[in-house]
Parts: sequence; C-alpha cells; structure tokens
Amino acid sequence: MSHKTIIEPFRIKSVEPVKFTTRAEREAALAEAGYNVFQLRAEDVLIDLLTDSGTGAMSSQQWGALMQGDESYAGSRSFYRFRDVVQTLTGFQHIIPTHQGRAAERILFHTQVRQGQVVPNNNHFDTTRANIEVEGAEARDMVIAEGRVPSGMHPFKGNIDLEALERLLVEDRDGGGTLVPLVMVTVTNNSGGGQPVSLENLRGVRRLCDAYGKPFFLDACRFAENAYFIKLRENGQADRTPADIAREMFRLADGCTMSTKKDGLANIGGFLAMNDSAWADAARNLLILTEGFPTYGGLAGYDLEAIARGLEEVVEEPYLKYRIRSTAYLADKLTAAGVPIIQPAGGHAIYIDARALLPHIPQARYPGIALVNALYLEGGVRSVEIGTVMFGLRPDGTELPPAMDLVRLAIPRRVYTQSHIDYVAEVVIAVSAARAALRGYRIVSAPPVLRHFTARFESV
Ligand code: F0G
Repeated sequence: MSHKTIIEPFRIKSVEPVKFTTRAEREAALAEAGYNVFQLRAEDVLIDLLTDSGTGAMSSQQWGALMQGDESYAGSRSFYRFRDVVQTLTGFQHIIPTHQGRAAERILFHTQVRQGQVVPNNNHFDTTRANIEVEGAEARDMVIAEGRVPSGMHPFKGNIDLEALERLLVEDRDGGGTLVPLVMVTVTNNSGGGQPVSLENLRGVRRLCDAYGKPFFLDACRFAENAYFIKLRENGQADRTPADIAREMFRLADGCTMSTKKDGLANIGGFLAMNDSAWADAARNLLILTEGFPTYGGLAGYDLEAIARGLEEVVEEPYLKYRIRSTAYLADKLTAAGVPIIQPAGGHAIYIDARALLPHIPQARYPGIALVNALYLEGGVRSVEIGTVMFGLRPDGTELPPAMDLVRLAIPRRVYTQSHIDYVAEVVIAVSAARAALRGYRIVSAPPVLRHFTARFESV
C-alpha cells in the first residue's frame, strides 16, 4: 500500500474515560500538590504525558498471555518463555528479571562499582545517575557536542563522544585500570532529548572497550525506537528489519539494563542481562536478597508473559512506523507555531526548550517548572521538567543548572489518538502565546536526592 497517511496499526477494544476539570479545579489541585505535578492525583489530569514508562496499552495478545502466567516460585514456564525471548533478542547468556529498570541498575552498580570510580555514558538517566552516586562513584555524561544544543539536525544526537571516552580510558589505563568499571550507552538518550545512537557509534564504543578491556553495557529501555531511527537515518540500514538492527545493537555490547515499562510494552518489569558468568552470579546473589528468586525477580509469572509478548510486538515495523511518526507529528505542529523544541523530535517524547521559551525566568527560578505548571493549568496536560530541578542538585548540596532546561511531553505507547495530540498542541501553543505572563518558582522543601519527585514549590 502506498498511501501517505500513517495510521494507528490497531483498533480499540476497551476504553478508559478521562476526566475533564475546570481551571479553578486545576488551580486548587496544583496548589495542594505544592506546584509539583508528580504530587497530583492522576484523575485530575486530562492528558498524561508525565512519562512513557509503564503507561502503555497492552495488546489483546498480551492480555491473553496474562492467563498463561505460571506462578510457580522457582523455574516457572513463564520465566523460560521470557528468557528465550530476551535471549533471542539480545544474545546475552544470563537473563535476570527485575521489577523495573532501576532495580537492574542498582544490582549492576552495587555489585560492580566502587567508591571513586567513574561510569561514562552518553547521558545518565536520573535513576542511573543516583544509583552510581549512591556507591560513591561518578556518573559522567559524554554525549557529543551536537547532543547538547537544542537546534541542529544531527541524525544521531544521542551518540557518545568517542574521543572523550578514549581520553578517560587512557587516563584509566595509565592509572592502573581501576577507574572505569564499565562503559554505558543509553539508547535512545532520554535525558538528552530521546535522541538515537548510531550503529557506527556503538561499534566505536565496542572497539574502545575491546582496546581497553572494559565491559560495555547498554541502557536499553528504548532499544526498539533506537533501532527504527537507525533504519530511517543510518547509511546502509534502510533495508533491514528493526528486529535485525536491534539484535545487532545488543550483540555489540556485553550486557544491558532494561526497563520493560518502555520498549517492553508492559506496565511493569525489567531485566539485567550479561555474558560474564561471575558478574551474573554476583547479581543473582543480590537479586535474591532484594528482588526475589532468579526465575521471577520480583515479577509475577503473568508479568513475564506480558513482557515476552511485548518484546516481540515492539520491533514490528508497522508499530514503530506509527510510533515514531506520531511523535514527529506533535513536533511538526509545535515547530510550525514557533515553539522551541529539541530538533529533531525524539522517539518517545517532545522536549520543549523552556529556557528559550521563557528567557525572562532565570535558571534558578526554574523555567521548566513554570512551563509544566502552566500546561497543566491551561489544559490539564501533565508533562515533566528535565532540567535544573531534576539534575541541578550536586552531591555536595549546591545547585548547578545543567546544559538545558527542558520540559518533556512523553507519549505513552498506543494510548492517545491523533485528536488527543491535536489538543495537546493547542494547549502548548496557547501557553506559548501567553508566555510573558508566566513567573518562576522557588523550592519550599525538598529531599536530599531525587528531589523532583517530592519537592514543594511556590510562585515568585
Ligand atoms: N534508564 C532510562 C533511560 C530511563 O528512561 C528510565 C526510566 C530508567 C533507566 C529506569 O527505569 O523506571 O523502570 O526503573 N525512565 C522513566 C521516564 C521513569 O519517565 O523517563 P525504571
């Protein structure tokens, strides 16, 4: 078929009503939440773009698979189904289920990372960074320079800077080789705008890891979206299937952490996978302590079934074509209206450049929070700040604004229709038109780590 319209590759069998609120109701709800949308009741949100994590719609096949769940404590059939699917996809020898991505991170870093070490990555996600820092190690971001500027159409803005990585590995080698326990690359690069990493870049990381004897781990949460971008944008890849590209991505690495709440098309779950048997033994020992027996890792048998099916569906080309196009559709509308967003559109989300949109609000007054709150008040749309509140707090308690103050509109998988997205665009454009009236915020109270979840704010 050669028609131009890219449609949702599914029809809807079950629907869930959304609740409409008045502006006065939203004002009251936001005040009660301490001007932090993480503290809202989800019921009071009309279109929830807080995250694409665990918020997707499962297919009828996944719902059917739930009934096949084998809830045996040890050695359940569902584990072997899950393991086989993950092994076929990744090629890794050891597959360790976890209840979500950060559990895989915690287990990997707690068993392999020591105080004073440095873990390089294109950009660490917040939980990844926190799980490294809690071990007394440094999470060092090394995305390419183009990945740090909002404009500019580099096709792979998620690439890691191979020269910076090699400089670190040389320093490590000259100092005895104990500085860097492993190299990580996040696909797609969530904290840097949902931007993909090229196969060429992953091959470069592989070469460096071989040359300097370091294990290479992917943070694979959005591997399928990354694989589809490779198909669309990388020379020589257009004729391959996304599944084939994904299999190659994983086979360039020695292991991965994964949240199946994203490209697992499931509502919960994750895994840690690797080839090294000694590392896997250490991981399983900690897993038993904190997550559960190695054949369920904190998940129900039915979760393992849903994830196994989800990992098969997520690499299907009609799904990925729709997925990437529907995100770009929102980007096109915002760009046409002059709203500054990170270009090109990310796979799972649009990132509005809040600092560029609200130049009258200083970084220390959190332009991202101002925009997030305005979007909620204007239209009941929930988004998330990825900027100074999320990343600006250093371990010593001082604040250093990161390279960008972004507001992310994350698109849940298979959940919202095109008219929902048209509405979101209308709300963003309305807020943008009235932006001169927006004011900044200051923090009233906040916890010492991961403050964005629970901080309370007031308008200044
Ligand atoms: N790595 C990346 C790149 C992520 O985006 C996330 C989660 C995780 C690891 C942790 O996985 O939530 O299953 O423990 N990102 C979500 C988000 C929360 O909204 O971007 P988790």
